[in-house]
Amino acid sequence: MKSKEICCIGAGYVGGPTMAVIAYNCPKYNITVVDSNKSRINQWNGPVENLPIYEPGLKEIISDVRDKNLVFSDKIEESIKKADIIFIAVNTPTKTDGKGRGMAADLTNVKKCAELIAKSSSSDKIIVEKSTAPVGTGEKIKTVLKSINSKNKFQVVSNPEFLAEGTAINDLMNPDRVLIGGEESREGFEAVNTIANIYKQWLPNNKIILTNLWSSELSKLASNAFLAQRISSINSLSALCEKTGAKINEVSKSVGMDSRIGSKFLQSSVGFGGSCFKKDILNLVYLCQYFNLPEVAEYWHNVLKINEYQKERFFDKIHKSLKDIKQPTVSLLGWAFKKNTNDSRESASIDIAKKLLENNYSVNVYDPMVNDKTIIDDLNNLSVLNLEKLNIFSTVEEAVQNSHAICILTEWDEFQSLDYTFLSKLMQEAILFLDGRNIIQKDRVAKIFENTQSIDT
Ligand code: NAD
Ligand code: UGA
Repeated sequence: MKSKEICCIGAGYVGGPTMAVIAYNCPKYNITVVDSNKSRINQWNGPVENLPIYEPGLKEIISDVRDKNLVFSDKIEESIKKADIIFIAVNTPTKTDGKGRGMAADLTNVKKCAELIAKSSSSDKIIVEKSTAPVGTGEKIKTVLKSINSKNKFQVVSNPEFLAEGTAINDLMNPDRVLIGGEESREGFEAVNTIANIYKQWLPNNKIILTNLWSSELSKLASNAFLAQRISSINSLSALCEKTGAKINEVSKSVGMDSRIGSKFLQSSVGFGGSCFKKDILNLVYLCQYFNLPEVAEYWHNVLKINEYQKERFFDKIHKSLKDIKQPTVSLLGWAFKKNTNDSRESASIDIAKKLLENNYSVNVYDPMVNDKTIIDDLNNLSVLNLEKLNIFSTVEEAVQNSHAICILTEWDEFQSLDYTFLSKLMQEAILFLDGRNIIQKDRVAKIFENTQSIDT
């Protein structure tokens, strides 16, 4: 059977769930997910309770398809060799050195994949750019492939991923759209159709958008930039609400009820996190600068500046309330960058904890999913001082014991049903309740804490 052997390089938050859902919906395709991180592969092959990532519904799907038409392997070359289609789903972080440092996407991992594919292949293949990468990356992959292997034909297709963590399985099963971009040639159209045929196994034609390579690459960056822009827009207005007495939830509801605007992504917060919004916007800003569009670059850069401003405002609120306490302790509820994930990359919690520790606060942390090692690594990676003042607990009760403030930083459902009267009694002094996600009705806690605030008050 032709074009039914798939290899995916990268067994992370995208590669793992995406291939699991393809395997589930396409029993006739054989899929091998490979990764250079062997312990990650071992974890994917281990008990489903201990998969390397947490996503609702993932372990059920993995139980269903693993070792049937989905295999996790560390034999990268072997898997590349036998595949007709190769997805590249490796990480594309922000560059830390060289030209474009701190802004441009680091494509080292993508380039390494292209080199290995070229060297290990002895048949024609379709290469799918699943990783988020700047406009022009598909062309670069093609150049690398051709320069190393002139015997085989490679078609490069862009198929960016739009899943959000915490809802990945649902997003993959019922996406708003699937985007596939290819070269504008007969071979290019054939390759695009081959990839479209995978998704057609469970999605209607009208959800599958076919474009050229560059539109597909830019649409991914644009989508993330628009989403982040909405959050920064509402967060910027939360600052104005504080000055005027308007309430951000009421403003958000009123604005969102205009069907031209829509209600999603208008929840004010301590700031957006996650591994992609910041890096993809930086990437977009860099592209604009590179093409000499400074006004456009500055426009998008402001989305990130407001996000930093929001986190600073949040810290200032804590500092203002607790400045007279001699040895203040703050309890942070939530470390993940959003609910229903164990991912804490770029989480606002990291920045808030950093500022608190560096200002001599004791910090107690509780998160239902993020493990202690990740929390410590997150702070160590930023060379945070005073780590001895950090304590991580496995229950909320322990985390609030003897503290002066409770700050909600992740919108975990369990934080909504907590008995805050009871918790306040465990505290040294219930001076501050600060809801960074706007998930608790202020009236519910107003009488319990000396000072009850959400992000707009
Ligand atoms: P991740 O860090 O969770 O996973 C990437 C994996 O690739 C890692 O396990 C790493 O070991 C592996 N890898 C890197 N280079 C390799 C190589 N040369 N050979 C073999 N394995 C290699 O990253 P992720 O969150 O899955 O993101 C992957 C890409 O998808 C990024 O470009 C990201 O922007 C994009 N994306 C992510 C999300 C998300 O929600 N996380 C959503 C949409 C798009
Ligand atoms: C985001 C996009 O939603 C996905 O479509 C995209 O594929 C992905 O980035 C990516 O490219 O990596 P993700 O970062 O997983 O997904 O999660 P989101 O739901 O977008 O949340 C991002 C951050 O924004 C979180 O910290 C969340 O709490 C915050 N947020 C979200 C708000 O502060 N307010 C909102 O109204 C919505």
